[in-house]
Order: sequence, then structure tokens, then C-alpha cells
Amino acid sequence: MPRSPTDLAPLGAPVLVLNLKVYANCLGAGALAVGKLLADRARARRVAAALCPAAPDLGQLATSLRIPVLAQHVDSVDPGARTGTIIPESLLASGVVGSLLNHSEHPLPDDEVGRAVARLQALGLVPLVCAKDIDDARRLARFHPAYLAVEPPELIGGDRSVSTARPEVVHGTVEAVHAIAPGTRVLCGAGVHDRNDVRIALELGAQGVLVASAVTKAADPREAIDELLAGFPAGHPGTRRPGR
Ligand code: G3P
Repeated sequence: MPRSPTDLAPLGAPVLVLNLKVYANCLGAGALAVGKLLADRARARRVAAALCPAAPDLGQLATSLRIPVLAQHVDSVDPGARTGTIIPESLLASGVVGSLLNHSEHPLPDDEVGRAVARLQALGLVPLVCAKDIDDARRLARFHPAYLAVEPPELIGGDRSVSTARPEVVHGTVEAVHAIAPGTRVLCGAGVHDRNDVRIALELGAQGVLVASAVTKAADPREAIDELLAGFPAGHPGTRRPGR
């Protein structure tokens, strides 16, 4: 019996999503340490936050952390005689609440995105579809994912943030997606580093940000997380994982 889609944040609350990618210092114990920091600091500021660790760390972090944990990718295939795939049922069984899809570092054909969104949402899991620009976002909005994040690839990992370097992409994506899928929450990412980047993203209509190197490459990850959280309106109840 499919459950209602699990959300990353209470309705209307903006969310900070941290993608650990496969940065060497964010694997295994490193992923757990950063995840605990994010959960603790987000709770202190009452901001909703979620974490996307590398696949081998999903189960442990999903059971250890009191914030939603998402995969960085999932395959739409059904359970059975398949090797090396990550399927939605496996995420559900491990307490993982959803998955990124079509990140520019792991692109997918549109039809696979559609199948994976449907498979995740049928199990009450959260798809966070990534798009590289407004046209990409408009095309992928037809799948009505719970979340869609616009991330211009040329800004990923750099010093300029999408919200200051390409504000028209953020606002244009919000407009384009909501014209097709009003229920989809639009996030933005790429180069987001500080409270100003977050504040501007929210002012442009995004309902959160997707971040990686500001934290994964920080000399002081706690300070980097606090800097990002400072851009959010404090006081939104942080999301507790379902059943917690
Ligand atoms: O998934 C988020 C990521 O692609 C953004 O990367 O390093 O620019 O925050 P970064």
C-alpha cells in the first residue's frame, strides 16, 4: 500500500540539502561526523535539513541521524535478478527517504527520470530531480517530482553561486516549474557558500538549496554549516525522520 510522499521539510519550510558526493573526507566515519553536525546545527536553528551520502553509507546514516537521508542516485528497475543496481525498495528497507535523480554528475535519459520518479513516489519516497537550466527543468517538471533542483553545471564547485551569478535561472525555473507542476518544490544549487547566497535564493522563490563543496571542502565544516543555516529564516520546525 503506497504511503503518502514523505517530505524533507514541513510544508512551506525551506530546506538545506547537503550532497556529500564521494569526497574522500565524507565517506564512512567522515560522512557520519558531517551528518551529525548538520543534524545538530539544523536542529539548533530549527531549519529543515537533509543529507545525501555515498551509497555504502546510506543504511547506517539513515538509522543514525535524525534528519532525512537521501541517495545520490536510484535505478528504476524492479527487484529481482539484477546486479549492482540501487532500487527504491532497497532505500525503503534501509530507512532512506528518497533520492537525487539526474544530477549533472550522473545524468539520466528523460524516460528513466520519469520511471524513477514514479517508482519512488509509489513507495512514498521523495524524488529530488536535478536540472541544469530552465529548459531542462521545464521538461522534467512534467513528471511532477516532489522536488526539483536547478544547478548550472558550470557553477558547480566554483566560487560564484547560482543565486548571485544567475538569479534569472533561479527565478525562471521557479516560474517554469510551477506553471506545470505547482506542487513541486524548487531548490537551487551550484556554488552556494554563504548566508547571502541562501537568502537571495529564497528571495528568488526557491524553497531551499542543494550544497556540496561549501561544507565538504571546508576547513571547519561546523562553521560552514552555520554560515549556510544563517541564511534561512530560523524557527521552522526541523524535519524529524518519519516515525522518529
Ligand atoms: O548537488 C549539489 C552540488 O552539485 C552543488 O555543488 O560544490 O557547487 O555546492 P557545489
